[in-house]
Amino acid sequence: TWTAVDAYTQEHVHPPTTSNYNVLLDALRNSRDKGLPDIATAPTVAKMYALQCKARGVRHALEFGTLGGYTSIWLATVNPGMQVTSLEINAHHKAVAQENLENAGVADRVTIRLGPALDVLPQLASEIESGAKPRLGFVYIDADKQNNWTYLDRVIALCEPGAVIYVDNIVRGGSLVDPERQDERTFGARQVVENAGKDPRVDCVVMQFVGEKGYDGMLMAVVR
Ligand code: DHB
Ligand code: MG
Repeated sequence: TWTAVDAYTQEHVHPPTTSNYNVLLDALRNSRDKGLPDIATAPTVAKMYALQCKARGVRHALEFGTLGGYTSIWLATVNPGMQVTSLEINAHHKAVAQENLENAGVADRVTIRLGPALDVLPQLASEIESGAKPRLGFVYIDADKQNNWTYLDRVIALCEPGAVIYVDNIVRGGSLVDPERQDERTFGARQVVENAGKDPRVDCVVMQFVGEKGYDGMLMAVVR
């Protein structure tokens, strides 16, 4: 039923006549053809993020985990005046994402930086501190789950007040609260919920979510 509802609602709210419709499908197809895992953010969620950037008039968005650039294409096509910086550790993913960004006509506004995020962030931080790039109004953390908290903790200082930060894959079919689940990824989800919840720099909520990608959810943090 979740998948059917996604199909029905998307047919109406994101019909094939939408200008970014084909380039988004191209990106998924090319990513699959080039061997990337099928774990891109769901269309409904990626569009919600893009609309949230639009509602806030965000000038600069940051993503941890480019994969094939699917979410970046959503963010950039819905927000023509916004810059997107996206961090990716895998050179093949970056190369495929770059093809997808070019095909989508947004390569001039989306910059992919290759490397471990914790190595790449200091350079971005100095560009933001010097005013060469705007402060972040939107952040999407969707990379190695064990570092969820570290990424959130580090990125807050680069945000403008009122910036919105999302962390993906927090609920994972309920593994968040399943005492049997003692793996690193589940620890990464619990740690970010527990730490963000008591951090005075942000105000947070966790939303459960169902759809074509199953049962999961995200943490939303708003910077004070
Ligand atoms: C996986 C990672 C993701 O970010 C996601 O949204 C779904 C699955 C994974 O690594 O399996
Ligand atoms: Mg994810």
